[in-house]
Amino acid sequence: MPDRSQASLSPRPVSAGAPGTAPNMDAEQPAVEFRDIDIAYGKFVAVRDFSLSIRKGSFVTLLGPSGCGKTTILRSIAGLVDISGGQIMIDGRRVDDVPIYKRNIGLVFQSYALFPHKSVFDNVAFGLKYRNVPKPEIARRVGQALDMVRLPGSEKKLPSQLSGGQQQRIALARAIVFEPQVLLLDEPLSALDANMREEMRVEIKKIQKATGITAIFVTHDQEEALSMSDRIVVMNAGSVEQIGTPEEVYERPATAFVADFLGKANMLAGTVSRSDGQIAVTLAAGQTVHVTSPRPLAPGSKVTVVVRSQKLSVGPAAGGNRLSGRVVSTSYLGGSAIYEIDFGGKTSIRANAPINGRIVREGEIIEVGFDPSGCVLLDENGQRIS
Ligand SMILES: Nc1ncnc2c1ncn2[C@@H]1O[C@H](COP(=O)(O)OP(=O)(O)OP(=O)(O)O)[C@@H](O)[C@H]1O
Ligand SMILES: [Mg+2]
Repeated sequence: MPDRSQASLSPRPVSAGAPGTAPNMDAEQPAVEFRDIDIAYGKFVAVRDFSLSIRKGSFVTLLGPSGCGKTTILRSIAGLVDISGGQIMIDGRRVDDVPIYKRNIGLVFQSYALFPHKSVFDNVAFGLKYRNVPKPEIARRVGQALDMVRLPGSEKKLPSQLSGGQQQRIALARAIVFEPQVLLLDEPLSALDANMREEMRVEIKKIQKATGITAIFVTHDQEEALSMSDRIVVMNAGSVEQIGTPEEVYERPATAFVADFLGKANMLAGTVSRSDGQIAVTLAAGQTVHVTSPRPLAPGSKVTVVVRSQKLSVGPAAGGNRLSGRVVSTSYLGGSAIYEIDFGGKTSIRANAPINGRIVREGEIIEVGFDPSGCVLLDENGQRIS
């Protein structure tokens, strides 16, 4: 293990080369790379053909439903679970055979997992003592880490004297104090209440940016993923569905699963009725909508039109595609409202629209509109037609 005891917990450039050198190979070397990994628990394959390359200093989120393999992947980086196929590289080095204690990785879990009878100082110092860092250096670095998580002077406290959010900050300080190559965060915010979660989102991002650490974050909360990540890996049943920036996965979902999991998009099943520049799709309830497509589609093809609820405007000024239906529920959210609108033929739409003058009540007939370029088309197999 390299001697990192002289390194300091200070802001550092994301991927700078050594002084005086041309941009070096290091800048391009991924911090973490998975190459076609498989992980099985006995006969059950929890992760299949998982490939992902993570840039140094970036914040990547694994997002997916319970049981899709997110924790399993984190555990494989830390060496807590064996992979049955493929390779994992950290800083260009194969780690499959490196034992846990030699991997230089920081971990933060959902439950704070602090040592309850140890002081904050001893909790944070743990990784440094373990690495035989000299005492004065330990004190300095623990102090710096506590400053960074905005709990300076808390060295003597016990975890039980801290709130949930504060305990999670200490867990974070403990994970970053020895400047790990990678920081793994497994649903670190899920035990916190809504306000604290939002605050900690911002906090974690700030610390990650300031230290330039490479972070892999796990959540099944789409808002967390969208607001914090440089890139999101959407997973389903042990496999990758899509990898992209938050905008890409939200605006251009690659599959029906992604469209549904990220924000419950409206999915309107229909049949292509005409294809000349724009695609005309006849919906199950009989209405026709128009969608922009980069290529023509054979009339008769079964497709799904995916429209985000925020892309729908409600009221007579609605442009492009216009549909009218009956409001079956209204949820007032302050500046906007969510309407569920029934179009007949088992077709309903959720619209999240600003309140223009008045709230539309249940039972009213309203017009909803969306732009032909504001939606995505999926084919019969739920794959985006690109
Ligand atoms: N030790 C184990 N032995 C057997 N099966 C396991 C073990 N750990 C996990 N699994 C199974 O592997 C699959 C993936 O589990 P994993 O914990 O990685 O999911 P996850 O995406 O983190 O889910 P969650 O969001 O609920 O934490 C699940 O089907 C789970 O039941
Ligand atoms: Mg998990």
